[in-house]
Amino acid sequence: MISRYSLLFVFLPFGAPLVLNNNVGKLPVLGWNSWNAYHCDINEEQILNTGRQFIDLGLTDVGYKYINIDDCWSVKDHRDPVTNRIIPDPTRFPNGISHTARYLHELGFKLGIYSSAGTTTCAGYPASLGFESVDAAAWAEWGVDYLKYDNCNFPQELTDECKACVPENRDDLVNGTCTNTNGLCPPDYDYTQSHTHARYTTMRDALLAQPRTILYSLCEWGEAGVNQWGNDTASSWRMSFDIDPSWSRILSILNQNSFYLHHVDFWGHPDADMLEVGNGISLAESKTHFALWAAMKSPLLIGTDLAKISRPELDVLKNKYLLSFNQDPVVGRPAMPYKWGTNPDWTFNASFPAEFWSGPSSVSNGTLVLMFNPYADGKTKSAVWDEIPELKGGESYHAVDIWSGLDLGCVEHGVDLLVEGHGTAGLWIDHC
Ligand SMILES: *[C@@H]1O[C@H](CO)[C@@H](O)[C@H](O)[C@H]1NC(C)=O
Ligand SMILES: *[C@@H]1O[C@H](CO)[C@@H](O)[C@H](O)[C@H]1NC(C)=O
Ligand SMILES: *[C@@H]1O[C@H](CO)[C@@H](O)[C@H](O)[C@H]1NC(C)=O
Ligand SMILES: *[C@@H]1O[C@H](CO)[C@@H](O)[C@H](O)[C@H]1NC(C)=O
Repeated sequence: MISRYSLLFVFLPFGAPLVLNNNVGKLPVLGWNSWNAYHCDINEEQILNTGRQFIDLGLTDVGYKYINIDDCWSVKDHRDPVTNRIIPDPTRFPNGISHTARYLHELGFKLGIYSSAGTTTCAGYPASLGFESVDAAAWAEWGVDYLKYDNCNFPQELTDECKACVPENRDDLVNGTCTNTNGLCPPDYDYTQSHTHARYTTMRDALLAQPRTILYSLCEWGEAGVNQWGNDTASSWRMSFDIDPSWSRILSILNQNSFYLHHVDFWGHPDADMLEVGNGISLAESKTHFALWAAMKSPLLIGTDLAKISRPELDVLKNKYLLSFNQDPVVGRPAMPYKWGTNPDWTFNASFPAEFWSGPSSVSNGTLVLMFNPYADGKTKSAVWDEIPELKGGESYHAVDIWSGLDLGCVEHGVDLLVEGHGTAGLWIDHC
């Protein structure tokens, strides 16, 4: 029996509760959203083409289902004067949103739409504050299955009476909790009293009143103590400000969400924001981003032009171990850090988040183990069975490398892996 398995980890450059009907929203959503790839530059052909690409690239086969239109889909300066409805842009969507929905439904997809809990969206288009029922009814009639509801441009008088802690910009944090309450809501504040809660529950109720199941995805940037009420309001809730395709931003969100993981279970998922794989981050960074988003059971919304994605990036998005962990039908909880690594455990640090993660899976009673390397150069990292809460130390376990599929056989004590700079090594561990 090998007492310590050493392996050079080779990265080939090319190679390979809100409970809705029919289990909608029970698991994190898998899909695509137009914003990170195209911003406002969207149109019907591109959305329909994404559906065809999903099929051609095998993304449908591994479970990706929602194709979501983000901001800028409507006429900008007015609603329909008779019905008060938002009008689909006749240039960008010449056949209306209902045509896009019908087409995507025929291919087996779900369609998502976008609005804001304000008078205009973030890009200045008509939004739904005060028109919740009108808009929800229109979307239901058009065949929409999902709403992303943003937080831009609400009237001044709806500003909350006090602010929740936004940890990413603060240094006065203990375990992700603000210790400085100056200007902030008191620690025991009931955020269901906030205007933000009211703006978002009004839309929830409007959606629930429709004769169609529409998954509700909150995008209020983690404000107003949403972890406290998100699960009663929606299927997912953004837990931070927007992502962008920068390594520092991805790490900052990862660090922040690592303190919110006890809010993850079936029917309710903190949303670490849409994926930037394919948008200029390195392949190692793509692996870290996708593996940890999947392990945290965040919704996984691809955000790139699929015509341009590389084969290795596509393989990251299709990783069967990570997707099966994210979509586990029996285990609701996510993976969690079991050791920080560079910094002491429970250190809140936006550039050095927790490095050692594990979580249980119902698939072969397995355990997913991830080891993240925050440094720019390669580091050897050790998965030690004794340290991993899901395992009982001292035994042999069967280990598979989740990226290469390499079967490491039965291993005693643990595995050492060389993890490339900014990369994440992953092991699937089960019984011998
Ligand atoms: C969210 O609500 C659902 C449905 O009531 C419940 O099963 C789940 O445990 C809740 N999540 C958390 C983190 O409490
Ligand atoms: C942070 O939280 C962990 C787990 O709940 C706990 O063990 C640790 O003592 C906490 N640290 C501080 C400084 O409160
Ligand atoms: C984050 O952790 C790194 C590594 O320990 C340290 O060098 C850096 O100063 C920390 N940053 C902050 C803001 O504490
Ligand atoms: C699952 O694995 C754990 C430890 O890895 C073990 O204690 C438990 O007995 C296993 N359960 C089943 C049903 O095999």
